[in-house]
Amino acid sequence: MANPEITQVECDILILGGGMSGCGAAFEAKYWAPDLKVVMVEKSAVERSGAVAQGLSAINLYMGLRYNDPSYSKTPEEFVRYVRNDMMGIARDDLLYDIARHVDTSVHMFEEWGLPIWKRPDGKYTREGPWQVMINGESYKPIVAEAAKTALGEGNLYERVAITNLIMDAEEENRVAGAIGFSTRENRIYVFKAKVVYMGAGGATAIFRPRSTGEGMGRTWFTVFNTGSGYAMMLEAGAEATQMEHRFVPTRFKDGYGPVGAWFLLFKSGATNAKGEDYLKTREAELQKFLPYGEAKPTPTPLRNHQMLLELLDGNGPIYMRTEEAIAKLAAGEGPERLKELESEAWEDFLDMTISQAMVWAAQNIEPDKAPSEIYPTEPYIMGSHSGCSGMWVSGPEDLAPPGYHWGYNRMTTVKGLFTAGDGAGASPHKFSSGSFTEGRLAAKAMVAFVRDNPNTTKLNGGAEELGQAVYKPLTNFEKGRGASTRPDVNPNYLLPNQALRRLQKLMDEYVAGTSTWYKTSETMLNRGLQLLEMFKEDLENLGAADLHGLLRCWELKHRTAVAEAHLRHIMFRQETRWPGYYYRTDYPQLDDTNWRCFVNSRVDPKTKKWDVFKKEYLQIVPD
Ligand code: FAD
Ligand code: ADX
Repeated sequence: MANPEITQVECDILILGGGMSGCGAAFEAKYWAPDLKVVMVEKSAVERSGAVAQGLSAINLYMGLRYNDPSYSKTPEEFVRYVRNDMMGIARDDLLYDIARHVDTSVHMFEEWGLPIWKRPDGKYTREGPWQVMINGESYKPIVAEAAKTALGEGNLYERVAITNLIMDAEEENRVAGAIGFSTRENRIYVFKAKVVYMGAGGATAIFRPRSTGEGMGRTWFTVFNTGSGYAMMLEAGAEATQMEHRFVPTRFKDGYGPVGAWFLLFKSGATNAKGEDYLKTREAELQKFLPYGEAKPTPTPLRNHQMLLELLDGNGPIYMRTEEAIAKLAAGEGPERLKELESEAWEDFLDMTISQAMVWAAQNIEPDKAPSEIYPTEPYIMGSHSGCSGMWVSGPEDLAPPGYHWGYNRMTTVKGLFTAGDGAGASPHKFSSGSFTEGRLAAKAMVAFVRDNPNTTKLNGGAEELGQAVYKPLTNFEKGRGASTRPDVNPNYLLPNQALRRLQKLMDEYVAGTSTWYKTSETMLNRGLQLLEMFKEDLENLGAADLHGLLRCWELKHRTAVAEAHLRHIMFRQETRWPGYYYRTDYPQLDDTNWRCFVNSRVDPKTKKWDVFKKEYLQIVPD
């Protein structure tokens, strides 16, 4: 495939990625500025893309502010404290507060647009836990996508176009001017020029070797759409990143990756080791090693993982979610209808968002009211909107952000005109689907202000033809090299993306605290990992793509590799173990608040490609 058609598109606001935050951004931008041309680009189809593609069974952030009822409502201050503790002392108070004070309006709109939210007899939403509300969420994403599409209007949505790189301005340094990508369906390159760019491409999955193998290969917890593209492109553009050493290791129902929240919080299930012991109690003393966070309520997610990992390492596994006990307790003294209702709620929790887990139950003859189910820690994921806080260092809201955390427009990165939110914005996790949509809205409002203040058009740095050739290089490599062998997957001239992905995953797994070392690493391991990663990067020049699908996989891999490098370098820089249960530095096994209660930030110089990793002060706004 050669000589692609080139389509050039000019707009005011360019939204990259049609996930939850991108849809929020599209909706809000058109609300404030119907006169501006807002274009959205999505590598898949917005109706079923991103982390919410499969549906969800809960909205994990809803404050209930309209009730002002301490037994139901949460305050923004409480949210900041909760998240900060879960992050073991470090989070952006300003960003979290900003999300919390606005998130409810998004949830109310979702309901107006048709999302069924469970209700209690008093009319309030049914809480799963203190922050969450239950939904019938199989069609959550189509509902949100429809609102975004309607707002954008005909002709402004480009689906099945994968963005590969941001394009900088030709005249103004450190200013973004657009983006380039390719159609995954036709021989066509797209060049977008804009006054302001929103990056909403989500977090990063499959950087580490997954636990699944063989017929389950590719099954992971975090969605396949999220390949670290946003982080990679923003880093390449010179944007400052934060907390890229952080990761999320979810505890999940084993093998199908089913969610645990509804079981722990709604059904109030316990989890035990194989001997039937409640390891959260028997391992309570372990929490004392990580004070003051070990005493926080709820126990921070990494510490809960840590307690479970110790059990597994001592041979006390399998660990079981005691679904049968939880259901028996809830059904006690009630009739058979209640049991039936609980059973269907249990199945729906999986069917709404993780159908694979329902299949594991079916395949293993597990009836949740009769037998417990295994839970297990997954491979690590890099993300910023769930219980992981990686992402970009963004400007905070002007009324809340302390000096140094604010440089103009809310949610703008350190690159002029480049905004992000959701998984893209770092140090502000636990925003989830509702918070990501809300943060996209906040960014959009600021982007509109940016365009009003900067009405002149930008100028793309680089010609479309030349930029397009770089995008198509893996196709060219394959075309040129293919004659050297008869089997396309054995060839001295190129490396196929699947082969390269496995190499990256093996490297990250073995040297950068993956599952095979039980999440442990050290400086010497990281140094060796970095050497191998440097060689791997050289080989990426020889990636080969047989077709457009392969080309997509090649670019996803390049993006994953940039995220892998950021993750490795940040872990190397932070000389402590702040999040046991997520990862351990065996050479620095303690949490060290004196030296490391700070953010770790980094930036790649766009010209020299040199990394600068450095500390950034943590500034507390909301008191403990
Ligand atoms: P996403 O919604 O993931 O969107 C990213 C978009 O970018 C995708 O559409 C993707 O296709 C697109 N994209 C990626 N790369 C490119 C590219 N190169 N070019 C163009 N487009 C690109 N939240 C809850 O409230 N409740 C839950 O129960 C819940 N469960 C979850 C379960 C799982 C398995 C996961 C992963 C998340 C869950 N969340 C839940 C969190 C929620 O889904 C996320 O917080 C939210 O989707 C993040 O929004 P985002 O816009 O940053 O990313
Ligand atoms: S989901 O994204 O797949 O829905 P999960 O089921 O783990 O995630 O969690 C849903 C919500 O419950 C999140 O807000 C998470 O932080 C919270 N949660 C899960 N388990 C616990 C627990 N044991 N204690 C407190 N909060 C929990």
